[in-house]
Amino acid sequence: MKREKFGSKFGVLAAAAGSAIGLGNIWRFPYIAGQNGGAAFIFIYIIFVAVLGIPLMISELTLGRHTRANSVGAYKVLRPNSKWKYTGTLAVITSFIILSFYSIIAGWVCAYLQQSITGKLIKVVPSELESYFTNLSSNTGSALFWNAIVIGVTAFIVISGIQNGIEKYSKVLMPILFFTLIALMIRSLTLDNAKEGLEFLFKPDFSQLTTKSLLEALGHSFYSLSLGMGIIITYGSYIGKKENLATLSLQIIIADTLMALMAGMVIFPAVFAYGFEPQSGPSLIFITLPAVFQAMPLGAVFETLFFLLVAIASITSTMSLLEVSVSCITQEFKVNRKKATILLALGVFLLSIPSTLSFGLWSEVQIFGMSIFDFMDFIASYAFLTIGGGLTCVFVGWIWGSQNAFKELTSDGIYTMKGFKVYDFIIKFIAPIAIGLIFLHSTGIIKL
Ligand code: PHE
Repeated sequence: MKREKFGSKFGVLAAAAGSAIGLGNIWRFPYIAGQNGGAAFIFIYIIFVAVLGIPLMISELTLGRHTRANSVGAYKVLRPNSKWKYTGTLAVITSFIILSFYSIIAGWVCAYLQQSITGKLIKVVPSELESYFTNLSSNTGSALFWNAIVIGVTAFIVISGIQNGIEKYSKVLMPILFFTLIALMIRSLTLDNAKEGLEFLFKPDFSQLTTKSLLEALGHSFYSLSLGMGIIITYGSYIGKKENLATLSLQIIIADTLMALMAGMVIFPAVFAYGFEPQSGPSLIFITLPAVFQAMPLGAVFETLFFLLVAIASITSTMSLLEVSVSCITQEFKVNRKKATILLALGVFLLSIPSTLSFGLWSEVQIFGMSIFDFMDFIASYAFLTIGGGLTCVFVGWIWGSQNAFKELTSDGIYTMKGFKVYDFIIKFIAPIAIGLIFLHSTGIIKL
């Protein structure tokens, strides 16, 4: 079977950056930065992105392009009959689980978008916003309805394949996302007192940093860049030989980091300007922000733009998550794309039901002291993701060989590149050790 390819440079970038830029940037990054003292955390985050994110991004892209295979196939091509293929299987499982709960949050976002458009959300008085949010998330029927919409739209795009689906939609959605973010940023930065929010974001106070925040920054950098779960390997397999993967990696990473910072510049100046607290955690965009929009002139318009932005960011990420398993099933089991996508989408929906219920009927159910949703998040985003990322580094550094990855990076000599020694050292030593630490920490094996 001939492997599909991305059709244009911009298409590849839009799709890959679209995967990276998501709820992680707009929902998670601002609140974990908020909880870890703002600027100092951001500073550390950027260092991790540069030192570990770039080499791992390069490794996954080269692994995919060299083998032109899905995340399981890539290992099978390079080390047939070895156990390495299970690293790919783990990636497929990880992306599948992440999709099952990511789509729930994306569903809330779509519900909020719909209620912003109809003007309902802006009318909710601030003191009621919390119960408004709880009502939405604990009402299993409506949460599942919105979840089904997200999964349905995702499947609709993925069914059409790479060029006619993922690439086509990313090319339209990513520019809309970017310009919406700019518009919101201008709004936020021109509010009276915007300065306070900016100071929070950009003036580092290192006394706030704990070892825990270091590891959190490291973990979030992989999550945000969509590393360690087969996505970038899969997308890499659709990239042509002429593409300069080093430039592409840098572009994805810069775009992702910039969007996270811009999301911070939208959220914090507004939060401070209207006297709200930045540390409110996961409910920041669902409870705090709607109150902020209410206080703002033309708030209803900005509210709609904001939730549109988050909805777009989520969909370009969910399609990459689904593509990992679709690509694997179509290539490894020769199932056609349409059938694979529909079956997998149904599977993801079923898997998301227990997590959805954990906000309502099953809120008392606990697994290792966590709700079902938190448990899924923990298993996938912390445990599996870090194991997957770590094993990928070990595989590329020690098994496939970093010199082979680097050769692929230069497109077999079409481009000349420096920096092999640095790459080699990071991928063989620094990255596996750092990732090992995150793993031990996030699973609670070592406490800091
Ligand atoms: N990178 C995406 C984000 O920042 C999250 C994501 C995680 C996307 C896992 C795909 C897979 O939101």
